[in-house]
Amino acid sequence: MTNPIASTLAYHARTKHHLGRYAAGPGALDWAAQPDPFRRWQGTQATPLPREVMAAEIAWPQLDQPRPPQDFTPASLGSLLRLCAGITAWKQYGSSRWSLRAHPSSGNLHPTETWLISGGVPGLEDGLFHYQPHDHSLERRAWDGPATPGVWLGYSSIPWREAWKYGERAFRYCQLDMGHVLAALAYAAAPHGWQPRLLALDPAAVAARLGVDRGADFDGVEAEEAEVIVNLQADSTPPPIWNHWAGKPGLLDPKPMYQWPVIEEVAAATRGALPPRPPEQETESKHVPSTSTLPASQVILQRRSAQAFDGASVMPNAIFRRLLAALFPGGSPVWRLWPHAPRVHPILLVHRVEGIKPGLYALPRSEAAMAGLKQAMPQVFNWTPADPELPLYQLLATKAERTARTLSCHQDIASHSAATFLFVAEFAAPIQDNPAAWRHLHWEAGMLGHCLTLEAEAAGWRGTGIGCFFDDAVHEVLGLEDTRYQVVYHFALGIPVDDPRLTTLPAYA
Ligand SMILES: Cc1cc2nc3c(=O)[nH]c(=O)nc-3n(C[C@H](O)[C@H](O)[C@H](O)COP(=O)(O)O)c2cc1C
Repeated sequence: MTNPIASTLAYHARTKHHLGRYAAGPGALDWAAQPDPFRRWQGTQATPLPREVMAAEIAWPQLDQPRPPQDFTPASLGSLLRLCAGITAWKQYGSSRWSLRAHPSSGNLHPTETWLISGGVPGLEDGLFHYQPHDHSLERRAWDGPATPGVWLGYSSIPWREAWKYGERAFRYCQLDMGHVLAALAYAAAPHGWQPRLLALDPAAVAARLGVDRGADFDGVEAEEAEVIVNLQADSTPPPIWNHWAGKPGLLDPKPMYQWPVIEEVAAATRGALPPRPPEQETESKHVPSTSTLPASQVILQRRSAQAFDGASVMPNAIFRRLLAALFPGGSPVWRLWPHAPRVHPILLVHRVEGIKPGLYALPRSEAAMAGLKQAMPQVFNWTPADPELPLYQLLATKAERTARTLSCHQDIASHSAATFLFVAEFAAPIQDNPAAWRHLHWEAGMLGHCLTLEAEAAGWRGTGIGCFFDDAVHEVLGLEDTRYQVVYHFALGIPVDDPRLTTLPAYA
């Protein structure tokens, strides 16, 4: 077996986009053969879930306040799943029709599958259910196990959905999406008063509980990669293993034109448990209040990624500061789900923000990161404090729109934004320690992106994740010379310009 650390680092290196050469991907796309975004479990019993969103009136600024937990019922679980994994709209252009969900996804390909495990929920049988977002229903996949009261959500990725379009780089996108999905869960749980907790289970234990290791069931169809299980109560009890299984997963792409074996290699190399949950501690909150007056459920359900920005609007300083504060403990429910020491740090290319000179900025999310980045970056960066409370530092005053666009695969969203974020991860050391950290760094970056996307939506602005960037060109601009730090995700914020040719249709008839 090859060394997992070396395989992980080699995968990251070979899936970099370069200014003169993109990472290996398909030479041609057969659009008619796009993998089905909905996997159906044939031969399973389907139970429709109630669609009504509970606690719909809670205002965005109050979302994160403590509240008594709702009882687990089909209605409360249906409400949660709508807010974190459900369809939020259908879009139509000519004869094409596609759905959007509560969380964004690279290429709208949605590699993440959601599972629900229930024990002792009145009105719902015990067992493992596949969540079917298309119909907002549960497909019962397994049952018959030790009585274990509780509710868990489990996640698996289907890398082929992304690899079909993006080739070798696809596994990065699966993991960034996973981060968005987990953050979406943290926000959706808050109005229900639930405190979801990630379980530090061995990957084989996750796969066994979700049944994605049942090789014979997946014969001839695309494999699923176990990711993580979350207990919806604030405790760490794992769900049971089931004795009786039913159903067969549907085939998503009958005629795959390419194979990318390196994805299986990196999936194997990065299988590992989450680090244990650190002890609870009082963290000093960088509290910058949101001025949004929208209900939280509306923010979550109307969230969209901007496809274009106007290139002119100036972001008010209060909104900018609120967006940055959401990236720290106390600023978002996400950081209770992910209480680990921050290892992904935003570098900002500010174009149009009130009171902030255009330029290159750093927002180190820990003091250690500030010292580390200062040491790794060139001496010419001036590290001038740019906020009275938040650790925002100006590195260089400069117009950076063209740089942002070039670095983000020449995409206008990076230059027409008010600000574009480059998420830089502490990289070589955590991966040397545990190659599974490679996945977790991408999750953390996806979570940061999700905080920005929802806070922007609440404030009448909009965000877009940018998975396409020229890795080493970013490092060159930042003066980062080795793999101590690596860029893992970009994110742009601005005022969207909508495409009037698209029609919007309701999520569920
Ligand atoms: C990890 C990730 C990478 C993305 N990369 C890009 C990108 O490079 N360019 C872009 O225009 N949109 C990008 N997007 C936005 C997606 O295209 C968008 O989420 C998807 O089309 C679904 O639309 P929605 O977010 O409005 O639901 C990305 C989204 C994610 C989550």
